Amino acid sequence: MPPLILDLIYIVSAVLFVLGLKRLGSPATAREGNALAAGAMLLAVVATLLDRSIVSWEVIAAGLVAGAIIGAVLARTVKMTAMPQLVGVFNGFGGGASALVAAAELLRGAQADIPGGISAAIGILIGTVTFSGSFIAFGKLQGFITGRPVTYPLQRTGNLLLFVALLVAAGALVVGPGDPVALGILAGLAFLLGILLVIPIGGADMPVVISLLNSYSGLAAAAAGFVLGNPLLVLAGALVGAAGLILTRLMCRAMNRSLANVAFGAFGGGDATAVGSDEDRPVRRTTAEEAALLLAYASSVVIVPGYGLAVAQAQHEVKKLTDLLLARGVKVKFAIHPVAGRMPGHMNVLLAESDVPYDLLVDLDEINPEFPRTDVAVVVGANDVINPLARDPSSVIAGMPILDVDRARNAIVIKRSLSPGFAGIDNPIFYEERTLMLFADAREAMADLAREVKEI
Ligand code: TAP
Repeated sequence: MPPLILDLIYIVSAVLFVLGLKRLGSPATAREGNALAAGAMLLAVVATLLDRSIVSWEVIAAGLVAGAIIGAVLARTVKMTAMPQLVGVFNGFGGGASALVAAAELLRGAQADIPGGISAAIGILIGTVTFSGSFIAFGKLQGFITGRPVTYPLQRTGNLLLFVALLVAAGALVVGPGDPVALGILAGLAFLLGILLVIPIGGADMPVVISLLNSYSGLAAAAAGFVLGNPLLVLAGALVGAAGLILTRLMCRAMNRSLANVAFGAFGGGDATAVGSDEDRPVRRTTAEEAALLLAYASSVVIVPGYGLAVAQAQHEVKKLTDLLLARGVKVKFAIHPVAGRMPGHMNVLLAESDVPYDLLVDLDEINPEFPRTDVAVVVGANDVINPLARDPSSVIAGMPILDVDRARNAIVIKRSLSPGFAGIDNPIFYEERTLMLFADAREAMADLAREVKEI
């Protein structure tokens, strides 16, 4: 293919990637954005295949078919709550693939000069760290590995020394490109570093880690792009790297924690052990019948979804209740906290699945001033994101932005017990006079509420 045509195709693909990413910014245009970016990738892949002197079309075809089948099966069978670990595995494979490409180029002697050697060494280092780190993150979320932070004395010093050793091995590889021993040592040390960087982080912080590893996988792909002399791969990798980093920052900010605190703070035990939970303190229990009366005669209701809604898969029942309330003339809105659930956009995705209209979904900054004017806030399996202890500077969640449910006129909290959320701390809202606790699985509670409202 003439180089000019190839460059033009790459530029078109690059522009489509950027436009696709832009469209992912709103739920209304996200599908289109996804299709646009996928189309751009197809275009880039076809152009690259036509341009390169392909050695074995059979191997490529077999890879395409196997990949398509595995992808389709995973997309259909993996549950929404398991999406973070699926993304983690994808990142791991992405990083691993970039490392393999860089290593193969080195071994066949294609990167004999210093800049080529540096690109390849960076690709191997970051790609391998991403690979092993992602699989530890997957294991923690899936329960194969303890979700507790694994810490030991001199951990950070050990990691620092390991990193220095890695730099030395990378240097040796650059000076003697294609040296299989230096390559093996670099890959082995990077593999170890990936494991050691992720094990001290608590299971519940894994979504942040996965987002960061996603960014690393982008950087590894960009390095592979330099190795292959493919500008589009450099650009796509850089886009992934930047997007992952931005998302990581947003998640940290929404928890009011620094990235250093996530990486080294050993936060969240993985198991929910209540700190200061007081099972003996009185709470006002309610029934679906009583709660339905409160809802049916309210003029404004704000539904606050959280992780429990995802666990219970209660989104369709929530939609039914919403429709019934709207039909009665009740104003219904959804308060969306940026880190409700366990992955970015978790609540948006679930509610979109049950066709809750986007314009009912209101972000934290916009909904908070409305709580004092809200008759009933219905909390569906949310806990930390409504915990007023975040306003107490001595709390572990101090400074985390919260939804001001405690400022609503009444609150109905639906969860199965008084047990804490991810942060492992008690929630004073449960014991307040204006709060009614509906102890039940979120899906059953929502179905009961819908049935009761219908009968009123
Ligand atoms: P959490 O604070 O984790 O609380 C979820 C609550 O849901 C639990 O207290 C649990 O209580 C309840 N629950 C579980 N299964 C249920 C079911 N089947 N039916 C009804 N209730 C159920 O959730 P949240 O308020 O959404 O906050 C999210 C937390 O995750 C935050 O601390 C956030 O910082 C952290 N986090 C989020 C992200 C992202 S990107 N979303 C990333 C990292 C960390 P019971 O057991 O009593 O039912």
